[in-house]
Amino acid sequence: MSDNLPETTHGGDATLAHEPIPDPGLPEHQWRPTDVDPKAERRAERQVAGLFMLAILGAIGFIVSYIAFHVGDHPDTIGNLGASNLALGLCLAVTLLGMGAGMIQWARKLMGDHEIMEMRHPASSSQADREAAIAILQTGLEESGLGRRPLVRNTLLAAGGVLGLLPVIMLRDLGPLPGDKLDHTIWDIGTWTPEMQAWWKTQDRSLQRVVRDVVGTPIKVTDLEIGDLVNAEPEVLFAVDPDTKQLVVDGTDQLVDKAKAAVILHRMLPQDIVSQQTLNWSVDGIVCYSKICTHVGCPISLNERTTHHLLCPCHQSTFDLADAGKVLFGPAARPLPQLELTVDDEGYLAARRDFTQPVGPSFWERG
Ligand code: FES
Repeated sequence: MSDNLPETTHGGDATLAHEPIPDPGLPEHQWRPTDVDPKAERRAERQVAGLFMLAILGAIGFIVSYIAFHVGDHPDTIGNLGASNLALGLCLAVTLLGMGAGMIQWARKLMGDHEIMEMRHPASSSQADREAAIAILQTGLEESGLGRRPLVRNTLLAAGGVLGLLPVIMLRDLGPLPGDKLDHTIWDIGTWTPEMQAWWKTQDRSLQRVVRDVVGTPIKVTDLEIGDLVNAEPEVLFAVDPDTKQLVVDGTDQLVDKAKAAVILHRMLPQDIVSQQTLNWSVDGIVCYSKICTHVGCPISLNERTTHHLLCPCHQSTFDLADAGKVLFGPAARPLPQLELTVDDEGYLAARRDFTQPVGPSFWERG
């Protein structure tokens, strides 16, 4: 340490430590080719318009694909993506890519290019600053060339307009109206497809059994103890065509039918049943209800064994299984639909008929 220099807390030179750092200033401005060469400028303009044209073609391709392919067409296209998904996705990607790349190129090559220095200022802007901001916006608008470059402006407007059409044409998916499809489930044999009817003829029975969910085994009264709750389905969902060895109900149809027809079985002492109808539709204290909550359709299976209350996990609607599925608590507005049970000739639980009212949440066309 030199005797001539004052010491700092860091052991350095105090004079040097308090000297302001000189402002390095801005480097010399480099003009872009499009700023100095009119040919390069026109080339960039055509490039930007070309990208916006690409966006338009992508959007038109989207609309054509939407009309030409239906969901489920060519399901094995490229890794089981399906032709519809693949075409819609690719066309939308091309549209967004064209729009995005066009805007980036426009900003990089054609908009004003000069450095701006802005000093720090209080959070709220002064009137002068606001006026200056408006002036900057106006300058930006002029420099973007919207007025001078009708080709870029018009292709951008056309691309934006076609892009805006895409959600509009997809409104078609809101239709068609379901008709009476929500009024019935496959507990009603009369609504079955010819394949299901053909299988049913081979069974030589008149009542459809209530079988365990997942495994499809039929259920006898003695299989359930007091307090038990069992998830169940109509037996046709597990039917196998004897010739093809395939399920009679398969694919999307199976999922839709299963979602609507799902039920729960619950056994209680017959003397615990409150409602006369619930008693009439039960077998030895076993009652059967739709598993679909009448609020917004969650599957229900939280059971209080001793009170016979069934709780929906979504919003806590609580239904009384001893009293016609009455709502005891929560936002559900309608009782849980009950399925009329009986036993067939071999002693298995079976449905006497379909639900007498639509299952699940309310809908506009509900009678
Ligand atoms: S879906 Fe069951 S309470 Fe809301």
